Amino acid sequence: MSEIRQPKRLVDYQAPAFVIEQTLLRVELDPVATRVYSKLKFRRQTAGSLWLDGQALQLISIRLNDAPLGEDAYQLSDKGLAINEPGDVGILEVVTQLNPEQNTALEGLYLADGVYCTQCEAEGFRRITYYPDRPDVLSVFTTTIVADQAQLPFLLSNGNKIATEQLADGRTAVTWHDPFPKPSYLFALVAGDFDVLADRFVTASGREVVLEFFVEKGKGRRAAFALAALQRAMRWDEQRFGLEYDLDRYMVVAVDFFNMGAMENKGLNIFNSKYVLADEQTATDNDYYHIESIIGHEYFHNWTGNRVTCRDWFQLSLKEGLTVFRDQEFSADMASATLSRIDAVKLIRTAQFAEDASPMAHPIRPEQVLEMNNFYTVTVYDKGAEVIRMLQTLLGRERFTAGHQLYLERHDGQAVTCDDFVQAMQDASGVDLQQFRLWYSQSGTPEVSVTQVYDAAAQQLRLTLTQHTPATADQHSKQPLVIPVKIEILQPQTKLRQQALLVLTAATQEFVIAEIATAPLVVWLEDFSAPVKLHCQYTAEQWLSIAAQASNGFARWDAMQQYWSLMLRQALRSNELPQLSTELLAFYRQLLRQPLQDLALTAELLQLPDFETLAGQYQPIPVDALLDALQHLTLQLATLLQDDFSYCYQQLLFAPYQYQQQQVGQRALRGLCLSYLAHTDAGEELVEQQFQQADNITDQLAALRAGQSAVLAANDSRLSRLAERFADDVQVLDKYFSLVATLPSEQVFTKLEQLTAHPAFSWKNPNRVRALFSAFSLRNPQQFHRADGQGYRLVASVVARLDAVNPQLAARLITPLLSWQRYDQHRQQLLRQLLQQLASGSAMSDDLYEKVSKSLT
Ligand code: TRP
Ligand code: ZN
Repeated sequence: MSEIRQPKRLVDYQAPAFVIEQTLLRVELDPVATRVYSKLKFRRQTAGSLWLDGQALQLISIRLNDAPLGEDAYQLSDKGLAINEPGDVGILEVVTQLNPEQNTALEGLYLADGVYCTQCEAEGFRRITYYPDRPDVLSVFTTTIVADQAQLPFLLSNGNKIATEQLADGRTAVTWHDPFPKPSYLFALVAGDFDVLADRFVTASGREVVLEFFVEKGKGRRAAFALAALQRAMRWDEQRFGLEYDLDRYMVVAVDFFNMGAMENKGLNIFNSKYVLADEQTATDNDYYHIESIIGHEYFHNWTGNRVTCRDWFQLSLKEGLTVFRDQEFSADMASATLSRIDAVKLIRTAQFAEDASPMAHPIRPEQVLEMNNFYTVTVYDKGAEVIRMLQTLLGRERFTAGHQLYLERHDGQAVTCDDFVQAMQDASGVDLQQFRLWYSQSGTPEVSVTQVYDAAAQQLRLTLTQHTPATADQHSKQPLVIPVKIEILQPQTKLRQQALLVLTAATQEFVIAEIATAPLVVWLEDFSAPVKLHCQYTAEQWLSIAAQASNGFARWDAMQQYWSLMLRQALRSNELPQLSTELLAFYRQLLRQPLQDLALTAELLQLPDFETLAGQYQPIPVDALLDALQHLTLQLATLLQDDFSYCYQQLLFAPYQYQQQQVGQRALRGLCLSYLAHTDAGEELVEQQFQQADNITDQLAALRAGQSAVLAANDSRLSRLAERFADDVQVLDKYFSLVATLPSEQVFTKLEQLTAHPAFSWKNPNRVRALFSAFSLRNPQQFHRADGQGYRLVASVVARLDAVNPQLAARLITPLLSWQRYDQHRQQLLRQLLQQLASGSAMSDDLYEKVSKSLT
């Protein structure tokens, strides 16, 4: 890996020399020799040649203004095409040829499972035709698809269908026109045979929109939930942000071969089938939740992303952070506000904090990028959403909404920057956001330490806050940020409570709260009001008091997480196994005998923090001690509270499945109880009973998981019954694969090996690969982190094998191997050695090179 590949830098941004006013495409589909005829109407903006990106393309011909272009008039390389003197305006016609069947990278145009489909974000359009493939070139697209309609009945692209023509050779040509100028990354084309589920939506101003879902034949019924979720999302964006849909048609296509969750192509979303298809037999409550949120996410992009897009890819969080924030607000309104917040915060504390601590650390607006696909990260997306949320917290919902509106009005039809967004927020609110902008450029996890002194005589509460952001791999010196710290002040003696927002802007700051009559207990960082690590020196008893008394469900959950973190830290420090206190047992008993109204929250309160959350609190990570302690606590809770878990479990009655919050809570709590009961003498019977009696996959999976973590004897039998029953249903097989991958025993290696030979498994299908190997590396810490290195070696070999097939997928799978510095010396060595081996192997993709090289320097 001696060569150096040059990243692109934000500071080098230059506006394009030419714009493309119109893009005409004619795509003649063929599995191995698709021809793309493009006709571009260009106009000069500034000096320079006309640059067209192009990758892995076969160039057939070029014509400029109706005449063939001589070979000395352009330069062709493996990165694109430069036309030296095209004039100021003109028409460029280029013909390229490609092989969709061989395209296993799933970027550009690919053919899989008999469906032609495109994925152009971020830089996939350049694999379809030569084009200025950058988000600040906006063009009106007209696309003709030519194919045999007997084989491919549906020929789809963006916008409105304007013509259908029967050709003399029997093929059909269907033409689509999208009136909204858009960058190439939003282009989409789909051709295939599907079940169609259709309905309509009438916008607030009375326009009728046709909604169509295209899914695998035979699965049409399973799109009903997603379709209804889309209708809810459309209504919600009107009501919350005053935003209406703008085309006459909204299409969603579900495909099983897809690199990510979904893609917001204008008027023609393409989804991973995992995030569209749902019925009670094949999708869990959690799947339903994610389907609704991702359907919302892609729909919300129509304004935040499509109508207003990014100037360059460094600005990705402009659309992604904002759209994740919008989908989180939507989920909070549709499902449970508390649970959706818990969900988002878990992700930040596990994956995002881990990314900050990794060689790939970057700010939400990265400054240099080799392979853009590597920057669709939890930092850009989810920390980005937290930054937007902080703006809402600081400005208040009303001024925030006004800023959102001003941003969209001011920049409709433009490609803009994160600075433009903040400027609109500042102009609409009148609040100076100069220092706030640092959140866009500074990487890392800020640590906030708090102390408090109560002066009973003066009835004053003095709060001192300090902030410090440790250096990250990409950035050494850090400055103080604007950190909104929401607090709730409880006065346990009088049951008085009040809320306040402390805005920390300096390294250290003191706040005085007056008129506090009795000794207070402060709930810090309510709702996780900033993406920081908060340190406060509470005792176990204080955490339990907050868990019992805070008015906010999120704060209660957070207090329990802090409680367990403290117990584990103390135990590990003294080298002993953690013991359960009588206070804790009493609190848990109470929750089990009289659950809160919110059953899902009750389940969360009764759940130990997961390994990744705890790992983020240590340097180096005491892998074995943490896993042992967690296992010990689980067994102790199961034993000491068996009667209570059992009582609670029996109270929760089974009802015919509906995806509805009360039932979701019941199932969550039932699953939680069973996960403990599985470790008791009643385990085998209860698990089997639930597995057999359940009328839905949520309860069945809960039973399987409970059995698995308790290593029950009949687990294999249950797993094979599931696999047999759903032998040709990939939605369920993926869950089966993941279950097997999380088996906490050395046998997992043989089983994984066997499953790669399963008829439904394919190395070319990202869902299958992730179901086995992401599940293994992310949710089987015990086997992944084995001291003999077998877990690491398995993942490294999978990565090496996948790089040639699908670099995006390989680069995502390698992530858990990169942060070797976080582990003990022995594991450090194992990991480094594997990374070095990868680096010295044969040609690596840019995707992998960028990550491996960062990890090794
Ligand atoms: N823009 C998409 C979203 O957030 C995600 C996306 C980016 C994507 N690149 C992709 C999806 C590549 C699939 C493949 O909704
Ligand atoms: Zn998105």
